[in-house]
Amino acid sequence: MSSKPLIVYLAARGFERDLLDELALHGVNILEVKERLVLAEGLFRSAWAQNIWLEPFFQPIASVGEAVRILKSIQRNWKLHAVDFHRRAALIEQQLPPVKAKPLPFGQPAPTSPLGSWTLWDRDTLLVSATCSSAFPDGEVNFEEDKVNPPSRAYLKLWETFTLLGRGPQPGELCLDLGSAPGGWTWVLASMGARVISIDKSPLDPRVEAMDGVEHRIGSGFGLEPRHVGRVDWLFSDMACYPERLLNVVVKQWLEADAAENFVCTIKLQGDTDHKMVQAFREIPGSEVLHLSCNKHELTWINLGERRRAAL
Ligand SMILES: C[S@@+](CC[C@H](N)C(=O)[O-])C[C@H]1O[C@@H](n2cnc3c(N)ncnc32)[C@H](O)[C@@H]1O
Repeated sequence: MSSKPLIVYLAARGFERDLLDELALHGVNILEVKERLVLAEGLFRSAWAQNIWLEPFFQPIASVGEAVRILKSIQRNWKLHAVDFHRRAALIEQQLPPVKAKPLPFGQPAPTSPLGSWTLWDRDTLLVSATCSSAFPDGEVNFEEDKVNPPSRAYLKLWETFTLLGRGPQPGELCLDLGSAPGGWTWVLASMGARVISIDKSPLDPRVEAMDGVEHRIGSGFGLEPRHVGRVDWLFSDMACYPERLLNVVVKQWLEADAAENFVCTIKLQGDTDHKMVQAFREIPGSEVLHLSCNKHELTWINLGERRRAAL
């Protein structure tokens, strides 16, 4: 028997291959794959997993009623992720307490009540986990969107980051926003009361540029050095650029100069995912690499000063 724990990974939509490749690289044994669900031995916090079922177990069931009784006896809240036996799974789901599917207004904290996940692995067997890595159903955060004010949908990446962290820039903190146009991220930061130096080769949406605390500079994020702006509370980058350049020219420079307290940067991947490059970001002490709900072929690298210092 393997000493590695049984784990179920839910791949981010469209990134099943990336998840499988990354798990294999990190020594996880893949046992079986059903659509986006990967049953495996070994825990690795792959960024390509939208959710991780941490303590899964198989539970034989003789009937729909028995499945309902068992799930209810464990806890109240459950998310079905059906990959097969859809009608039978739906019959079970209908008899479980409803889980609120209302979009989250930005600013409200992530849910704290435990949310388990389950599926019918075969007709008479549940695969169940009461403990998952995400507090959100299938790891997807569904916000009450603002379709009027932000000039791009990229604002959702920062809303999700701050919701997952349970914190974000405080009023008056200084933020650098590299690759800021048309201004979705700058809009989020300025709406939170932060001061923003925004940099892009393109202009910002004039409504965002006119917000209190926003200073836009036309130019390259790679040309800006710490001595030009001094120490910043947050360094953000959503620049369309090669991950190597982001890491070697921006991140290392600002880290080595101790010129940014917190970092949130999008790692834009092209073609086949460079897992070694993703790992290089992950290995910076205190780092977390996530696939946010609205990320496409890109990941979000987060490094908070307090976690960095604790990890050193
Ligand atoms: C995905 S968009 C950013 C969206 C933005 N975060 C928002 O919320 O609206 C990528 C941006 O990176 C910018 N970009 C690419 N290379 C850059 C560079 N070297 N310096 C600054 N901006 C750059 C592009 O002009 C583009 O506006």
